[in-house]
Amino acid sequence: MRDTIEALYGQESPVAGQNQRYNEALAAFQELYGPGPVSLFRAPGRVNLIGEHTDYNQGYVLPAAIDRDILMLARPRDDAEVRVANMEDEYPPREFSITPNIPPRPVGDWANYIQGPAELLARETQDSLRGMNALVCGRPPWGVPRGAGLASSSALTVAASLALMRLNSIPLSYGVSLAAFCSRAEWYVGTRGGIMDQFTAILSQRDHALFIDCRPRASGYRYSHAPLPEEHTLVLIDSGERHRNTGPLYNQRVVETRLGIHLLKSRYPWITHLRDLEDLPWDECRELLPEEMTADELYDRGISLQSLMEDGTLPQAETFVVQRRCRHVITENDRVLAVVEAMQKGDLERVGKLMVESHASARDDYEISTPLLDRIADAANEHPDVVGARLTGAGWGGCVVALARAGAVDDLFERVSSLRHETNGQAVQAFVTQPAPGAGHLATINM
Ligand code: GLA
Repeated sequence: MRDTIEALYGQESPVAGQNQRYNEALAAFQELYGPGPVSLFRAPGRVNLIGEHTDYNQGYVLPAAIDRDILMLARPRDDAEVRVANMEDEYPPREFSITPNIPPRPVGDWANYIQGPAELLARETQDSLRGMNALVCGRPPWGVPRGAGLASSSALTVAASLALMRLNSIPLSYGVSLAAFCSRAEWYVGTRGGIMDQFTAILSQRDHALFIDCRPRASGYRYSHAPLPEEHTLVLIDSGERHRNTGPLYNQRVVETRLGIHLLKSRYPWITHLRDLEDLPWDECRELLPEEMTADELYDRGISLQSLMEDGTLPQAETFVVQRRCRHVITENDRVLAVVEAMQKGDLERVGKLMVESHASARDDYEISTPLLDRIADAANEHPDVVGARLTGAGWGGCVVALARAGAVDDLFERVSSLRHETNGQAVQAFVTQPAPGAGHLATINM
């Protein structure tokens, strides 16, 4: 196990701590399910350097997998039952049968992220599937922090998909097809997310960011690995703010951008996603996009929200912001391409400027920031050794990511640790993260 751990997390990682974590998980599995073979799967969380809410608009993103991950230990069963336990008490054990129609549990239930891939697999393969006895291990400090905008739920979906596929000898279990499967599987929870999180969890490489063009083509998706600037590191600054259920807010943004497309089609009938606007003059597009539309106005113009959002849960909103949402996506796509180019040229000043602009656009146009995230991003951006900092992930809480000179980390930690949550006084937490390799099956062990 030691070699595997070193290969995954790097020689500088606290190998002993990881070793202990893996051993504890194996011992807990044996205690729960008895001796026999166990397969070990791992899926990482992700940080997004730039390209927020662009993926479901078929735009560009530049994320990286992080060295915090979820482990799933699993053994096949002879029937179609799934029994899954968690090493954290707050996630009680769950059971379900694999069928093409698995009733979802209440929103937020952790087992939904395992039921989603099980249901989709049952729908997409004609064979009857074997269930599994499984154990999930995502405890701190090695697990992906939950609700922090670091895609912990996608890590769980990916780990569960890998386990179910491998235990059923389904040969889909790698690369773009697995990533595309996992993205679809997560729609089960009702949020109409894009492909970024699952792709990053699967296709990432150590020490690299992952550039993804989220427009599907006949040949799949275009992506490439971009090395991070040397002697720089990624710092995650966690606001500690957790939004209970971002699903409706997220879906509202999806609807607002789709509404933009619907309105733009009157002049540009060929467009299907905001991505198609990259070569169109924004001043002309803007004329077709009202600042806001009320539900009544939509009704009067014969625009059905239902048909705009037939594949996800409809947000219950009275007002829809259109022009600014579209402007964020269009300008953010440009910024992603510009950051990739600037990184290639080693122009870090430009990278930093674009990250600052991205945060401002997320704050003002997409309105996914919070006052605390703004304060954290500002404090980090004021640090002379920070290239750039911005909120990362869906928003409404979670983390700021800073690209910083490696030597500046302690000082940066000290500066941001004085920032506190306005109501509960809790201090923000910062940690360094190393871009990690993508998910996989690590080993099958006989215990
Ligand atoms: C969530 C979604 C992703 C992406 C981000 C915002 O993490 O799962 O698909 O849309 O939000 O960039």
